[in-house]
Amino acid sequence: MTVIIRAYEPADAQATWEAYFRAIRDTAVKDYSAEQVAAWAPESVDLVEWNKRRLAAHTFVATIDSRVVGFSDVTADGLLDMLFVHSEAGGRGVGRALVEAVITKARQLGLSRLHTHASRTALPAFQRYGFKVERSNPDNWIRGQNLPNYDLYYELG
Ligand SMILES: CC(C)(COP(=O)(O)OP(=O)(O)OC[C@H]1O[C@@H](n2cnc3c(N)ncnc32)[C@H](O)[C@@H]1OP(=O)(O)O)[C@@H](O)C(=O)NCCC(=O)NCCS
Repeated sequence: MTVIIRAYEPADAQATWEAYFRAIRDTAVKDYSAEQVAAWAPESVDLVEWNKRRLAAHTFVATIDSRVVGFSDVTADGLLDMLFVHSEAGGRGVGRALVEAVITKARQLGLSRLHTHASRTALPAFQRYGFKVERSNPDNWIRGQNLPNYDLYYELG
């Protein structure tokens, strides 16, 4: 099984949305309630708007056998906003490969630090990738639902 990381293209909009949806509805549901994950990943999405947001950051997709199984990104000011791996591809290093690509990009951009808002589900993975906890956010709200998460940072050195 080979994981390939490449730059996001508009044709990846649907597949990245599906990875997001399945990551939240199947994987993050272990750490959040059904109501919380329904607010975080609603049933429908505006793919035009979704694509615009992916193009507004440096977005990378991970593929296995040409199928998009996850994605991550970094903004010009060092926010790693998204890290989602399809539930069918979890636990095989896809998240790690995506974060390594983001770290490489951040260094190319001349950034000294990355920061992210990590879910309870993603916290142990980010810590394995070398991120440190800055603070917990008990007051994170999405569409009327409280989804506690964590602010993390990574020193690029
Ligand atoms: C978090 C997520 C992206 C990780 O992706 P993944 O491809 O399954 O992760 P990896 O295979 O790279 O493994 C993550 C690392 O964390 C470790 N890890 C994962 N879960 C762990 C846990 N519960 N406790 C301890 N370590 C854990 C793994 O052992 C691995 O470490 P290693 O590479 O040193 O072996 C994925 O689970 C996901 O999409 N989760 C739901 C959505 C979400 O919360 N996204 C983040 C939004 S902030």
